[in-house]
Amino acid sequence: MTTANSRTADYPIDPLFLERWSPRAFTGEPISQADLMTMFEAARWAASSYNSQPWRFLYARRDTPSWATFLGLLNEFNQSWAKDASALVILISKATMRPPGADKDVPSHSHSLDTGAAAGNFALQATRMGWHVHGMVGFDMARAVSELHVPEGYRVEAAYAVGRQADKSKLPEALAAREAPSPRMPVASFAMEGGFKAA
Ligand SMILES: Cc1cc2nc3c(=O)[nH]c(=O)nc-3n(C[C@H](O)[C@H](O)[C@H](O)COP(=O)(O)O)c2cc1C
Repeated sequence: MTTANSRTADYPIDPLFLERWSPRAFTGEPISQADLMTMFEAARWAASSYNSQPWRFLYARRDTPSWATFLGLLNEFNQSWAKDASALVILISKATMRPPGADKDVPSHSHSLDTGAAAGNFALQATRMGWHVHGMVGFDMARAVSELHVPEGYRVEAAYAVGRQADKSKLPEALAAREAPSPRMPVASFAMEGGFKAA
């Protein structure tokens, strides 16, 4: 199966999975609140342990008062291209949850996993709408906690740049050379019937 970009799948899947990739060349155009809400709506419907929904999406749209704060959290490399994104997101997760019938919160085993599932929905919905989402761990998580007022008991998971793809010629040469959808390991290397098998 092939798609709009160079990727091919070995088994039949929805082309959306191949179309989602992480470019760095963005147009810098504005994004509407409505488009972002649709992406968060998709995130909303992710599965989570006990339906605890531990994800929290903190966001800034470009040309708004919070933009400089969010952009300033990214490391120098990520700032160099994410400055042309349309929105920046810091994704955090609540590390505790209230099981049904319990009267107090307990540690959640799966808060990061659940939040990752929501992030996947978010990125796929963005792709369906013609936007791209580029994940980042290259940012100052301690400053994210203090500058975005993240309370105790939440884990900073990742940052995301949301943008409309631009021509790679707008990137510095070294980045332009890397601006292509990446390949993947074969399914057989990570799907193991009957138990773990060392490679
Ligand atoms: C949680 C997470 C953190 C990432 N951190 C960075 C980053 O700091 N800087 C960057 O340029 N790309 C970053 N990436 C992008 C990955 O390198 C990219 O998703 C991966 O190579 C697969 O490519 P694809 O998303 O185009 O399929 C990150 C992706 C994820 C999911």
